[in-house]
Amino acid sequence: MGCQMNVDDSNSMASHLERLGFSFTNSKEEADFIVLNTCSVREHAEHKAMSFIGRLKPLKDANPNLKIVVTGCAAERLGQKLRKKFPIIDLVIGAKQIENFPEIFDKSFSLAHSDNCGEAPSRMLLPSRAKESDEIAFVTIMRGCHNFCSYCIVPYVRGPEKSRAVADVLADIKTYAAGGFKDVMLLGQNVNSYCGAASDGTAIDFPDLLAEVNKIPGIERIRFMTSHPKDLSDKLIEAMATLDKVCAHLHLPLQSGSDKILEAMNRKYDTALYIALIKKIRRRIADICITTDILVGFPGETENDFSDTLLLIEKAGFNALFAFKYSPREGTASSGLAETITEEEKDARLKRVLELADKISISKNNALVGSVVQVLVENTEGPMCTGRTRSNIKVFFPAPTDKNMNGSMVDVTITRAKVNTLVGEPCAK
Ligand code: 5AD
Ligand code: SF4
Repeated sequence: MGCQMNVDDSNSMASHLERLGFSFTNSKEEADFIVLNTCSVREHAEHKAMSFIGRLKPLKDANPNLKIVVTGCAAERLGQKLRKKFPIIDLVIGAKQIENFPEIFDKSFSLAHSDNCGEAPSRMLLPSRAKESDEIAFVTIMRGCHNFCSYCIVPYVRGPEKSRAVADVLADIKTYAAGGFKDVMLLGQNVNSYCGAASDGTAIDFPDLLAEVNKIPGIERIRFMTSHPKDLSDKLIEAMATLDKVCAHLHLPLQSGSDKILEAMNRKYDTALYIALIKKIRRRIADICITTDILVGFPGETENDFSDTLLLIEKAGFNALFAFKYSPREGTASSGLAETITEEEKDARLKRVLELADKISISKNNALVGSVVQVLVENTEGPMCTGRTRSNIKVFFPAPTDKNMNGSMVDVTITRAKVNTLVGEPCAK
């Protein structure tokens, strides 16, 4: 459940289990071990996890050998309280311990490794279960966050920012490249404040890391997520503009278009800085797609504040956005603030944001009709292929041959624009 970091963590856990000799099943009924990797960023995510666990009881009754493991952010937040609430759980491993999953898991269940232990992750093994795509390799480059936006539980459940060593990150990417991956997504809560140790002990920042990744043969596309506006340096914009493999896509959460609300959120930038950044980026990288996160209904958000958010969304011209209703999280700075609008009002604001986002998306996509884009095919289903442009827009087009096209780069002429997606025809070779 949850964000792409969780998807990556789930893949790593699955790959550890595979090294132990387990095989993967999508059917809960067949499983001897169920590992649920949870999210707690909003209350709804936690509720989903709780109801999933609740529904496992009949399976445990039917198969007393079934082991249930709960990991991730909700596991960190609730800890052993989870086992009290659900005695069917055998093991809880919180997000801060996720890197020690193999040791904790093996020790708890007295498991020994099978012969192929230590094998490098193969193309089949790791991101094959990434729900985003089978063709994009997810590589976590840093963990945690210490920005303490007032609404956010992440700094509490994932702990402070920690960057992985440069050599470790590059080794992972080389392994993926050797396994046939062309597209890599560098992940972190705030990737643009990455500061990792190089082998000689010097510190490498994010633009320098991008330059190193850019040198890896086989990798053709480099993406990253998420960036914080306060840490988006000119050096990073320059790296994006000049490194040929770095894709023209930037996810830059805005959250709100009201300076008063941004301050209450402790975002550490104002709308003027945000707009100046967007202008600077678009000037340097003309075809860039910028996406964002919007949080509606933060305590104190008036109709005027909300209208400012809509105005800013329009002004920034986001290609796509994720919008969320504010959900107070216990222990965060804003959780003590009284909510000032009802759930229905939050729903209505969310709807208005999404309608505006669709309108902008379709007009941006319309401008691409007639152009040729390069698509990395992620899915071939019967006569249709799906993939992404370098700027991260999903494209549908008829398969040019009978063979499975997954993993191929295809030039596609765009014939039709839809909300968030494009439709096209493969160019004749
Ligand atoms: N309520 C609603 N949305 C939240 N987010 C983070 N914390 C909360 C919360 N308490 C959203 C932010 C963030 C995205 C990953 O989740 O918009 O960028
Ligand atoms: Fe949460 Fe803010 Fe950190 Fe993002 S930057 S994870 S919203 S505290």
